[in-house]
Amino acid sequence: MSDAKPGRNRQGFETRAIHQGYDPAEAKGALNPPIYMTSTYVFDSVADGAEVIAGAQPGYIYGRSHNPTQEVLEARLADLEGAEAGLALASGMGAVGSTMLTLLSAGDRLVAHHTLYTNTHTLVKQALPRFGIEVVLVDFNDPAAVAAAINDRTRLIYFETPANPTVDIIDIEAIVAARGSRDIPIAVDGTFASPAVQRPIEFGCDLVIHSLTKFASGHGDVLAGAVLGDTARIDEIRSHGLRYITGAVVSPMTAYLILRGLKTLPIRMRQHAENALILARLLESHPKVAWVRYPGLESHPGHDIARRQMSNGGAMMSFGLKDGLAGATRMLDGLELISRAVSLGDAESLMISPASLIRGRATVHPDEQPALGVTDDLIRFSIGLETVEDLEADLHQALDRV
Ligand SMILES: Cc1ncc(COP(=O)(O)O)c(C=O)c1O
Repeated sequence: MSDAKPGRNRQGFETRAIHQGYDPAEAKGALNPPIYMTSTYVFDSVADGAEVIAGAQPGYIYGRSHNPTQEVLEARLADLEGAEAGLALASGMGAVGSTMLTLLSAGDRLVAHHTLYTNTHTLVKQALPRFGIEVVLVDFNDPAAVAAAINDRTRLIYFETPANPTVDIIDIEAIVAARGSRDIPIAVDGTFASPAVQRPIEFGCDLVIHSLTKFASGHGDVLAGAVLGDTARIDEIRSHGLRYITGAVVSPMTAYLILRGLKTLPIRMRQHAENALILARLLESHPKVAWVRYPGLESHPGHDIARRQMSNGGAMMSFGLKDGLAGATRMLDGLELISRAVSLGDAESLMISPASLIRGRATVHPDEQPALGVTDDLIRFSIGLETVEDLEADLHQALDRV
C-alpha cells in the first residue's frame, strides 16, 4: 500500500498502524489480511523449487522462515519503528535469544545495562557464558562506564528503556555517542514504551526488540516478539537465529491478532499514559508511599531524557511503600479491581511485587536481585484502560489496608 499522501511525504502513525504492509486488492478485497494457516508451500516443479530455495525467484518454502500473514506484521512493525526490515518471533524471549545467539559467538563480549527483564538477565548471566561469550553488565546511566566497557571484542551493546522493572530511562543518544564510530550494533528492548511512544532507531540505535505480548498486541491473549533493524542484520537473524538456532516462529493466527491490536496501539497508549499520570500523582502525594518512578513525573531522574525520546510517560511505573515488602503484600492482597499478575501492556491494570516472585525462582540468586534493580519494596504497575476514577478508588482502598 502506498505510503504517500498528496502534499505529504508520509502518512501519520495512526494511519500506518492500520494500513501499512497490506493491500486488500491482493486478497480478494478482504479488509483484514488472511490468516495463512500452512506450514509448507507447493512448488510448481522440481526446477521451480530449486530456484526458490536458491533465492533466484521469489516464493515460499516453509513456515519457519516465511509466512504471508507474518510478513504483513513484519512490514507494519518495521515501518512503525522506522526500520528497514522486521522479524516476528514466537515470544519476546524468542526475539532476545535469536538476536543474541546470532550476533554473538565464543570469544565475543556483550556490554549490557545491569537492570534487565528477569529472563534476559538469566540468559546473559547464565546461558551466554556457557558458550564462551563474555558478558559485562554496567550502569548505562553512566555513558562513560559504557565507553570503558567496550573493547575490540565487543559485538553487541544492549539495554532496555524504560527498563524492567525499575522504569529507569536510559539516554539512547548518550549510549550511541559512547559507542562512537565503532561498528558495534546497539539493540534496545523498547517493550515498556512500544513504537507509539518511543522509536529508538530515530535516536541512532540499530536494532529494536519488542515483546509483542505486551502493548503491541494489547489484550493479554498472545505471546510474540519482534526484532526490527537494517535488512542485512534482520536477514541474518532470520536465517540463523530463527531458522536453525531457536526456531521461535510466530504462528499465523498470533501474527493476525497482533495486527489487530496494532490498529488501536496509538490511541491505547495515549489513554494508558493519561491514566498513568493521574495515578502516579495520586501515589506521589499519598502518605503511605515512599517513592514513585514514572517517566511522566518531574521527579523521575530521567524525566528530561524521557521528554526528548518518548512522546509521553508511557503506562509503566514502579513505586515503593514506607512499609516495604510487608506493606506491598498487604496492599496487593487488598486489590479488588487491579489484577495481581505478571506481564504488562494489557487493557487490564496489572500489579506485582517482583521481589516476592523472583525469590521463588532458582535461576536468580538473591545476591543478584539488587543488580537487577529489584529492591524488596518495589511494586511494578502496568496501568490499564479502565475508568481512572475506578483505579483511583481501588488504590485508595488497598492502601487503607496497609
Ligand atoms: C522488557 C521485556 N523484554 C522481553 C520480555 C519477554 O517477552 P515474552 O514474555 O513475550 O517472551 C519481557 C516480558 O515481560 C519484557 O518485559
